[in-house]
Amino acid sequence: MNNYIGIDLGTSSVKMLLVASNGEILKSVTREYPICYPKSGWSEQSPYDWYNATIDGLKELIADIDKSTVKGISFGGQMHGLVILDENDNVIRPAILWNDGRTQKQTDYLNEAVGKDTLSSYTANIAFAGFTAPKILWVKENEPDNFARICKIMLPKDYLAYRLSGVFATDFSDASGMLLLDVKNRRWSREMCEICGVDESKLPKLYESYEKIGALLPSVANELGLSEDVSISIGAGDNAAAAVGTGTVGNGSCNISLGTSGTVFVSQDSFSVDKANALHSFCHSNGKYHLMGCILSAASCNKWFVEDILGTKDFANEEKNLDSLLGENSTYFLPYLMGERSPHNDVDAKGAFIGMRPDTTREHMVLAVLEGVAFALRDCVEIAKASGVKIDATKICGGGGKSRIWRKIVANVLGIPVLRPQIEEGPAYGGAILAMVGCGEYKTVLEATEKLIKTKDVTEPDSAIVARYNEKYNTFKKLYPALKEVYKQI
Ligand code: XUL
Repeated sequence: MNNYIGIDLGTSSVKMLLVASNGEILKSVTREYPICYPKSGWSEQSPYDWYNATIDGLKELIADIDKSTVKGISFGGQMHGLVILDENDNVIRPAILWNDGRTQKQTDYLNEAVGKDTLSSYTANIAFAGFTAPKILWVKENEPDNFARICKIMLPKDYLAYRLSGVFATDFSDASGMLLLDVKNRRWSREMCEICGVDESKLPKLYESYEKIGALLPSVANELGLSEDVSISIGAGDNAAAAVGTGTVGNGSCNISLGTSGTVFVSQDSFSVDKANALHSFCHSNGKYHLMGCILSAASCNKWFVEDILGTKDFANEEKNLDSLLGENSTYFLPYLMGERSPHNDVDAKGAFIGMRPDTTREHMVLAVLEGVAFALRDCVEIAKASGVKIDATKICGGGGKSRIWRKIVANVLGIPVLRPQIEEGPAYGGAILAMVGCGEYKTVLEATEKLIKTKDVTEPDSAIVARYNEKYNTFKKLYPALKEVYKQI
């Protein structure tokens, strides 16, 4: 049987899956790398770390198999990160990541001086601090020498694809998050390139996510012991790849990712934009479109609270007594540890616990963190609903999706069933499926997902808990506006 490799270039690690063409996962390997916060609100990583971790992990992934069975590789990658290369393909500076908040000034310039309506007419989106275009403007203003050396601008997974294949490429789903793409018409926006002072020749060639861009470079094939015929499909932004990995491909289907970030991803067969541009309007990896809300800190809040504050890695133990407290908790948590993207677009927002009394327990605080993330996701769902999008149920993926209690909280806070796919590897699995489509194993992404993705279990909402959470959500909604001014002073 033919085998495929899906690579998910995440924020804390790169995950690689070896998947047979019948969808079975044969092996999984993860390699971690550091994330650097050089100043408060900044976040950077070295593209060299990504590449070295990937090559090292791939060697382990394929160590014990007949290497001639590997036919294709593709990717899901953390979105929006700015990777810039000079004329010799050296990385000019560390990549500025999706959750970096240094670009408030450039974001304001784009939204106010250029104007939200104009941006939306060029790209279908407005500027958010994490998007790539404001970062390009930041480098131009703050590091003019680096800006002058730029020969290639690319996104994180595109750097891996470039190093593996020698082809300078990106895909429509990931390119959508640059604020340089005319999303509706699937081409670079000439106007946005001008605004950012970027010549289009410095941007990668655009492909659909499943399209083959080339094959392994002979030097890389040799290092890995793979054939030079191994096909490289460009892959997708991690959310679009996760959507493929969870079968969120048809019109109106929804996926929630509880990873470092949290996202609500709604697949759409036709292009649309919500009135206030509060949701991102991006291309999907099946040739169509999607709407998305993104909260910058999701499972990362839980990791921070349990590991860094409570000082344990025993998440199951922290969660074991929470069932009886669902909907009864008067402690709230605002999950804005890295500022917030959707819907507040505020780099100054910060995490906060509120509502504690002497009888507040450790359990209440752990629960508040899980609930706070679910309420923040509901903020995104409410916007989608207000713009006419119907969400009847959702898939779930990401590390947080593995927690039974968190799935139950999400189902009850949103009041919809939460479906867990049998394979929970979201973006990496989606990457492998895109590689299969690129090699012709399946004709379309939809055909592949219909054949390969199965549901493992469904968490149904409970109407009594939903009612209590509706009340709690009404209180949650008032907390950010009450703290907005205070956040600016902290
Ligand atoms: C989406 C976003 C995050 C990253 C995480 O817009 O910024 O979900 O893609 O890797």
